[in-house]
Amino acid sequence: MMATNGTNTAAAENTALLEVQHISKFFGHVIALQDVSCFVRAGEVTCLLGDNGAGKSTLIKTLSGVHRPDEGEYRFEGSPVVMHSPRDALALGIATVYQDLAMIPLMSIWRNFFLGSEPTRGFVPLRWFDVSRAKRVTRVELGKMGIDIRDPDQPVGTLSGGERQSVAIARAIHFGAKVLILDEPTAALGVKQAGIVLRYIVQAKHRGVGVILITHNPYHAYPVGDHFVILRRGQVYGDFRKEDLPLPQLVQMMAGGADLDVLTHELESAARPGRVEPAGG
Ligand SMILES: Nc1ncnc2c1ncn2[C@@H]1O[C@H](COP(=O)(O)OP(=O)(O)OP(=O)(O)O)[C@@H](O)[C@H]1O
Ligand SMILES: [Mg+2]
Repeated sequence: MMATNGTNTAAAENTALLEVQHISKFFGHVIALQDVSCFVRAGEVTCLLGDNGAGKSTLIKTLSGVHRPDEGEYRFEGSPVVMHSPRDALALGIATVYQDLAMIPLMSIWRNFFLGSEPTRGFVPLRWFDVSRAKRVTRVELGKMGIDIRDPDQPVGTLSGGERQSVAIARAIHFGAKVLILDEPTAALGVKQAGIVLRYIVQAKHRGVGVILITHNPYHAYPVGDHFVILRRGQVYGDFRKEDLPLPQLVQMMAGGADLDVLTHELESAARPGRVEPAGG
């Protein structure tokens, strides 16, 4: 049973930056993705949601050049592309921020900022760079995202989880990312830190970046998302514009609907005061 897809007319108005059509990915007998189509537009946040094992990571690994789809087509800025590695994706301007962030905690913020960005366009290798300029660029770029760092020489390890995510996002944007893929950036963060990261996601969107946000948390996705792609068992269950999807409905869909009602009922009755299991059975 597929939910209705209300995005087709809107999609025609604004062509997608990145699009996959009917892609499938198999791991031996496991069908990780089946006939998945979705798109990402510039200046929009596409939220990718779904339960454990739904295929979210497989989909973003396909989008970021880690996996090649077994079936289907990948289009970037309107043309079919075949990517052989994450470097190919990065060269096109598709940057992925993984949870471990690939940052070096003992290294300074400015060094981390310039770390590993060689393949993107317009980058001058570090050895041709003067250090004071690198520090200034780091400070200015982070400032544009609203991150006020006291000292670019401060080791990245001294930043909070949310600040580190924010530095990774600012770095990807500075080095020319057109598409920014974020795999559960708020998963390990408290409310305040998650809020900071979500604010930078909005900044990236306003700067014209197409953002893909993967999260388990509908309350993180909803305020920042423009459309919501819901994966279930490797297939697209639905792709909803925010206008067409009230928050309670999103929560219900993500939680597995009826299953959650049953679970809530069970937990509530189990937790009721005075309900003591007879000792010794
Ligand atoms: N390299 C692999 N080899 C074999 N099976 C895999 C591989 N990667 C993923 N799978 C399988 O594909 C399915 C989708 O996995 P995927 O990691 O994409 O899910 P997910 O939505 O990211 O889940 P989670 O929320 O738990 O991270 C799962 O059944 C998983 O076991
Ligand atoms: Mg995953």
